[in-house]
Amino acid sequence: MTETRPTSLVVDIHTHVYPPSYIALLKSRSSIPYIRSFPPSSSLRLVILPAEDTESTSRGRPVGPEYYDITRKIAFMDTHSIDISVISLANPWLDWVPAGEAAKVAENINNEINEECGKFPGRLFAFATLPLSGGKNVILKEIERLKGLIYIRGIILGTTGLGKGLDDPELLPIFQALQDEKLPVFLHPHYGLPSSVWGERANDYGHVLPLALGFPLETTIAVTRMILSGVFEKVSGLQMILAHSGGTLPFLAGRIESCIVHDAHLMTEGKLTKDRKTIWEILKNNIYLDAVVYSEIGLKAAIQASGEDRIMFGTDHPFFPPLEGETEKWASVETNYEAIQGALGSHNDKASGALGENAVRVLHLTI
Ligand code: URA
Ligand code: ZN
Repeated sequence: MTETRPTSLVVDIHTHVYPPSYIALLKSRSSIPYIRSFPPSSSLRLVILPAEDTESTSRGRPVGPEYYDITRKIAFMDTHSIDISVISLANPWLDWVPAGEAAKVAENINNEINEECGKFPGRLFAFATLPLSGGKNVILKEIERLKGLIYIRGIILGTTGLGKGLDDPELLPIFQALQDEKLPVFLHPHYGLPSSVWGERANDYGHVLPLALGFPLETTIAVTRMILSGVFEKVSGLQMILAHSGGTLPFLAGRIESCIVHDAHLMTEGKLTKDRKTIWEILKNNIYLDAVVYSEIGLKAAIQASGEDRIMFGTDHPFFPPLEGETEKWASVETNYEAIQGALGSHNDKASGALGENAVRVLHLTI
């Protein structure tokens, strides 16, 4: 593998934690998401994805301190030349928390993550998590409270919203509040596609199908539904950072736009007016894409779709560790560095933007 150590500032905007209190909650549960051992093995496994909760060696993944010990995050950053990380709670966030507990759990988790950042001032910032199951007022109250947490720079959001997806009109006041508070939404998949699409042999293929295809398609579908429902006209300043370079959005944008302008139903409903933002306008005004796509080809599509000033480096740590025990550098990280170098070169403004400067500018990563 070529040496890809960058000389410019590096910011990782896609990097997760499960703070200790969340780990304790997972250990107390027996349906997904949960952590437990499967005898005869005594080692703990983290089971979070609907498609991985099956009797097989792919039932979850080993879970150790890299998931919850913040000093391990800093060590990982040092090994991979990462100056700043914007940490976020990993999926499935607080989606499963009973409605009556949502406000308190979100408050505790967001405070805890903010405090973790405070242990390494200037090196850690965070995306907060919303108490989605608590309903509109609880969510709006938490958004308001986030002002007091000095390291929070946006929120991480899954694709279910209040239970009906992100094209739900009930979410508009929440998107409006996020816009008003200048909190970008880091949109991240979790649920993938229904297990039935993976067929009878799905268990033979480990996590490949849900992670490689289910995740990106989930993101693509969620954003396309937002576009179709007019969210970006109604909340025109909403800023979204899409995980995994937008899933397949950059590649499919032309097809989505063409299907929209050729849709007789949309025409009859009066939805194809001059006020409509095209998908290309949305990509260039409302959307940032992370660079967690593992190839120069995918990254070039992302850059062409949104612009090189809207691309942000990420790692997805602690997911995708090397399988063969500890190696110094993680191949999953190096591949993303190589993709940036291949698509944008190195030692120039475009590469520096993607590696870190775009994130510093957009997320105000100074203390
Ligand atoms: N697997 C997950 O469940 N989440 C991630 O963010 C990456 C891999
Ligand atoms: Zn992730």
